[in-house]
Amino acid sequence: MTNFADFQLEIYLQGLSGVRPGLPVTYPELERRAHSALDPTLVSYVAGGAGDERTQNANVTAFDRWGLIPRMLVGAADRDLSVEFCGLRFPTPLFLAPIGVIGLCAQDGHGDLATARAAAHTGVPMVASTLSVDPLEEVAAQFGATPGLFQLYTPNDRALAESFVHRAQAAGYSGLVVTLDTWTLGWRPRDLAIASFPQLAGHCLANYTSDPIFRDQLSATPEDDLRAAALHWAGLFGNPTLTWDDLPWLRSLTSLPLILKGICHPEDVRRAIDGGVDAIYCSTHGGRQANGGIGALDMLGGVVDAAGDIPVLFDSGVRSGDHVVKALALGARAVGIGRPYAWGLALGAEQGIAHVLRCLLAETDLLMAVDGYPTIAHLDRDALLKLA
Ligand code: FNR
Repeated sequence: MTNFADFQLEIYLQGLSGVRPGLPVTYPELERRAHSALDPTLVSYVAGGAGDERTQNANVTAFDRWGLIPRMLVGAADRDLSVEFCGLRFPTPLFLAPIGVIGLCAQDGHGDLATARAAAHTGVPMVASTLSVDPLEEVAAQFGATPGLFQLYTPNDRALAESFVHRAQAAGYSGLVVTLDTWTLGWRPRDLAIASFPQLAGHCLANYTSDPIFRDQLSATPEDDLRAAALHWAGLFGNPTLTWDDLPWLRSLTSLPLILKGICHPEDVRRAIDGGVDAIYCSTHGGRQANGGIGALDMLGGVVDAAGDIPVLFDSGVRSGDHVVKALALGARAVGIGRPYAWGLALGAEQGIAHVLRCLLAETDLLMAVDGYPTIAHLDRDALLKLA
């Protein structure tokens, strides 16, 4: 069993030789440094959210309204942070949430591959976005022994959607995450102010431009006319017609575990379960899509209650180990990391992602150790106090 807390000792021991961590150990510093390392249009895209970013901020501050109650003398010297969902077992409760421009966040422009390699090295699975610099097959080839999941933005062309799912299954992905909250793009003032949207410039479309169905719909190859391919993509991307009536079709596309992302209402949980999904993914998309104002954590409990035995994955606003612990105590089976790993990638490639994950895991592990919760099974709502 790994005690992730040992990363702390490693840092202090290196300090004896005068070596300090090359990358930040706090989120604000990580974000600050990454902003200087990236093109401003990319910073806007990654850091920005919908409207005045109230939801994005609420995702983070929601954690402050919960406290973890310390328990003593429980013998928490060895911890077990492993989790299981959809028949997959992982050494940690973290996963790398899908990030559509992660490819561009790497200094070499191949961040999807770097993220997959970080997943291989850390055992923290990657949910690979539909929007990637490198095709899903090449991303999957870097996963090593860590299972990966494919995230589908369902295009409004069924044959193309089916092609993506079949390619993902053939490439060895272990689950399909269908994102429901992005059938149209949210209002993002930061990007609007600079009139910048990376995909329209032809970025991160490799899964489309490598797909025979997509290519057949073009009058010139994407290699000859990327602009036309990007405009064609824009026409296909959204799916205003997808409804609950289409869930049987989505379910029929694959024998892989099916996970619906963006579910926040208990009634939607029940409809998803009735439709045969294997897990629910509670998320506000990091506040990038709708500025409704409720932090995702505030909706997690209701989602978990409605889900019963069906596992609930969670993301939005997770910035530190105590956030991870609180999400787990509120019933999340696994916790998704979003923006923090994009910043880690920008600063230090796959090692930068690994650094971010090691910091989060060490802090999670140490909090569980000090406060007397040796396993995730010990973390439940009784471990938390709701603050005024
Ligand atoms: C995202 N997210 C996202 N989700 C998804 O299902 N497919 C995608 O391609 C993307 N792309 C994407 C790009 C960028 C730049 C960001 C920041 C986020 C949402 C992501 O999976 C996750 O829900 C949020 O990142 C969680 O919020 P925080 O913790 O990053 O604030």
